Amino acid sequence: MQLSVVAILLAVAGPATCQLDKWAKEAGLKYFGTAVDNPSLSNQAYMKIARDSSEFGSITPANGQKWSNTEGSQGRFSYGSGDAITSVAKQSGQLLRCHTLVWHNQLPVSSSFSRDQMQRIITAHIQNVAGHYKGQCYAWNVVNEVLENDGTFRQSPMYRAMGIKFITHSFKTAAQTDPLAKLYLNDFNIERCCNAKINATISLLKTVIAAGAPVHGVGMQGHSRVGKSPSKREMKEAMAQFAELVDEVAFTEVDIRHTKLPVTAEDREQQARDYVEVVGACLETAKCVGVTVWDFTDQYSWIPSQYPGEGEACLFDNNLGKEAGVYRRGQPPPECSVFGLAGKGDARP
Ligand SMILES: *[C@@H]1O[C@H](CO)[C@@H](O)[C@H](O)[C@H]1NC(C)=O
Repeated sequence: MQLSVVAILLAVAGPATCQLDKWAKEAGLKYFGTAVDNPSLSNQAYMKIARDSSEFGSITPANGQKWSNTEGSQGRFSYGSGDAITSVAKQSGQLLRCHTLVWHNQLPVSSSFSRDQMQRIITAHIQNVAGHYKGQCYAWNVVNEVLENDGTFRQSPMYRAMGIKFITHSFKTAAQTDPLAKLYLNDFNIERCCNAKINATISLLKTVIAAGAPVHGVGMQGHSRVGKSPSKREMKEAMAQFAELVDEVAFTEVDIRHTKLPVTAEDREQQARDYVEVVGACLETAKCVGVTVWDFTDQYSWIPSQYPGEGEACLFDNNLGKEAGVYRRGQPPPECSVFGLAGKGDARP
C-alpha cells in the first residue's frame, strides 16, 4: 500500500490504537484474550470489538459453559448458551479457552452423593460437555477454585463425596474425552508468591500428577485491587513454581478494580502500572502463554454487583473507550499498550 493511502486511512480512522492480541503475538505470547458473556452478544458495538481478532485472539465463555447452563438438571444437557459464545470464536478465528467443567458454584447438583454416585455424575458431565466441544477448545479449565485461601480443600459437594480423587478423576476423564485440549487447574489468589494457597496448590498438583492426572496448565485468575495487586516479581516467582510441574501457565480472568469511586488521575495511573505488572510477568515467564481479561469493558464487569462501591476494573470504560492511562505505551512498537510503560496517559473522562 502506498504511503499516501496509509496517511489517508490514518486520517480517516484516527491514529492507530493498541491492538492487544497483535501486540501479544509480536511479543511472543499465544494470545491476549477476553471473557464474553451471553448478555453482551446483542450489543453490536461491544461485539465489533470482541470479534476483532487483532484485539482478542482468544475468547472465554464467562458463563455459557458452566454446569448450570450445560446440565441444568442431572442428565439433561443443553448447549445453547455455550454455543452462542463458542460460535463467535469460530467465526472470528479466535482460540477458545473453555470454562469450566467442575466448579462448586452455579451447580444444580447440591445434595450429597456417595463416592460412586459423584464419580458417575462427574464422568457424565465431562464426557457430555467436553465431548460436545471436542476439538474446539485450546484449553479447558477442568477444575476451578478447589482450595480455600488458607490452603485447605474447599468443602464442595465433589470434595465431600470423593476427596482429592475428584480432581484426578476429572483430569483423566477430560483427557480421555478431548485429548488435544490443554487441561488447566484454575484458581484465584495464587498470583502472589508464596502464600499458603500457592503452597497448597503446589502440593495438590504433585499429588494428582503422581496419581496420573494429566494437568497441563495452571490458570491464575488475576482478580485484584488497584495498588494492592501483586508485583511482577511476586507473580513471576509464583509462575516459576508452577512451571516446574506443568507445561504452561496463564492469567485467565484479569481485572484490577478501584476500591473507591470516583477515581482520581493518580488511581488510574496506579491501575495502569498494576496491569503492566501482570502483562510483564507473563511476558517474562517462558511458559506463560497468554493473558485473558474478565471482561474487557466496565459495561459488563462483574465487579460492581459482587463488590458494591468498587469498580472501573477493566481496560475499556463503560462507553467502550480504551482507558488511556492503561493503554499508553512510551516505547516502540508504536501504538500503545498494556505491554509497556504506562501511567502517563490521559485520564479517562
Ligand atoms: C510456602 O512455602 C515456602 C517454602 O516452600 C515457605 O518459605 C513459606 O513460608 C510458605 N508460606 C506459607 C504461607 O506457608
